[in-house]
Amino acid sequence: RRGLFGLLGAGAAGLAVGGAGGAAAAAAIAGGGASGGGSEASVYDFYGTHQAGITTPVQDRLHFAAFDVSDMLDRDGLKGLLADWTAAAARLTQGLEVEEGGAVGGSDYAPPVDTGEALGLHASGLTITFGFGPTLFTTADGTDRFGLAARRPPLLEPLPRFQGDALVPQLTGGDLAIQACADDPQVAVHAIRNLSRIAFGRATLRWSQLGFGRTSSTSTAQATPRNLFGFKDGTANLKVEQHDLVDEQVWVGASDEPAWLAGGSYLVTRRIRMIIENWDRVQLGEQEMLVGRSKGSGAPLSGGGEFTEPDFEAEGPTGAPLIDVNAHVRLAHPTMNGGTRMLRRGYNFVDGNDELGRLDAGLFFIAYQRSPQQFIDVQRSLASDGLNEYLKHVGSAIFAVPGGVKKGEFVGQALFA
Ligand code: HEM
Repeated sequence: RRGLFGLLGAGAAGLAVGGAGGAAAAAAIAGGGASGGGSEASVYDFYGTHQAGITTPVQDRLHFAAFDVSDMLDRDGLKGLLADWTAAAARLTQGLEVEEGGAVGGSDYAPPVDTGEALGLHASGLTITFGFGPTLFTTADGTDRFGLAARRPPLLEPLPRFQGDALVPQLTGGDLAIQACADDPQVAVHAIRNLSRIAFGRATLRWSQLGFGRTSSTSTAQATPRNLFGFKDGTANLKVEQHDLVDEQVWVGASDEPAWLAGGSYLVTRRIRMIIENWDRVQLGEQEMLVGRSKGSGAPLSGGGEFTEPDFEAEGPTGAPLIDVNAHVRLAHPTMNGGTRMLRRGYNFVDGNDELGRLDAGLFFIAYQRSPQQFIDVQRSLASDGLNEYLKHVGSAIFAVPGGVKKGEFVGQALFA
């Protein structure tokens, strides 16, 4: 077990040990595991009713990857890839190395099965969540590569074009997605690196995204973090403790179509560039007007504390609404969108700088919802959002995320039944 060997100072000899005993030791070290305080010792179950990494308290770090499946792969090959990914993810999330054929390690003649850079590190709350893009079912030219076209969820369509979209094809779409979240960036990167390696010859990376600071909370036990505009983000997000709302808004129900997706969700990602140099020249009062909340406390401009419900009717002395008609929180609020909610799980990113010397920075937006329409409705409502002057959506993707994995099965197995 990685963390255990780290504690004991064991070297390569530790590579040969693992299995259930190791996992139990990991849980013991983690103080029982999945309670989710967000520390490097957290260990979350891989198996369950739903995939981990959705309502799991958001970890601090992200490595997200979208893959294109090789045209040479057939249906059995795709199943084999998903089975190999499942086996590896079940181990990695418990703080174990990737293993092949029961033996971990390399030899003078073969490279090590696990790449090694996470040896000695804890599980760090790693969750690995898998998703299936529309092009897995039918390619853009209508080809049914894997005999899955008839099983495509009717709602799993590429997102419509939204006002202001400046999407870059290389940052958009994908047949398969893997979201790896952890409290240690090296652990998240190690997971994606090893899963990419396992896919060698079967699926290639189309695009990937690192995130360094969560921009939401998914549990009331978590403090609200801040995005790169400096505002608290995640205040009004859906929280795991809101069981009924989560069931209603996040999980595909047993009576929804298709049946194989029950217990799953729809994942939308958007790579949103934030023009932070311009934003940093905007007066505080205007920044707050654009968001609709106080920058310091996160309270709505209609008054109260961070968690007070915004009062969109409240007016100031001049008769103007205290929360501007084009404020982000007004346009994104459920009352503006037929009661629609979503579970946001995004991350900050800074990927170097552009040719003008501006940071290539922004928010890698991630949202889970029972139907893609929830995202579409809110994103359309945000067309007049005052924040748009400082935003550019450059990447976009949608995936159907199957329900949780049972021991002995592979992720998405019901799709092939
Ligand atoms: C709320 C920032 C993009 C949906 C908020 C809040 C902030 C914020 C500061 C208030 C705190 C909170 O309740 O979390 C941003 C920034 C964005 C962005 C900086 C882009 C870089 C989006 C997008 C969507 C979205 C693309 C969905 C299409 C929401 C929703 C809320 C919210 C649903 C909660 C509204 C409520 O119930 O009060 N956002 N947001 N945001 N945002 Fe965004």
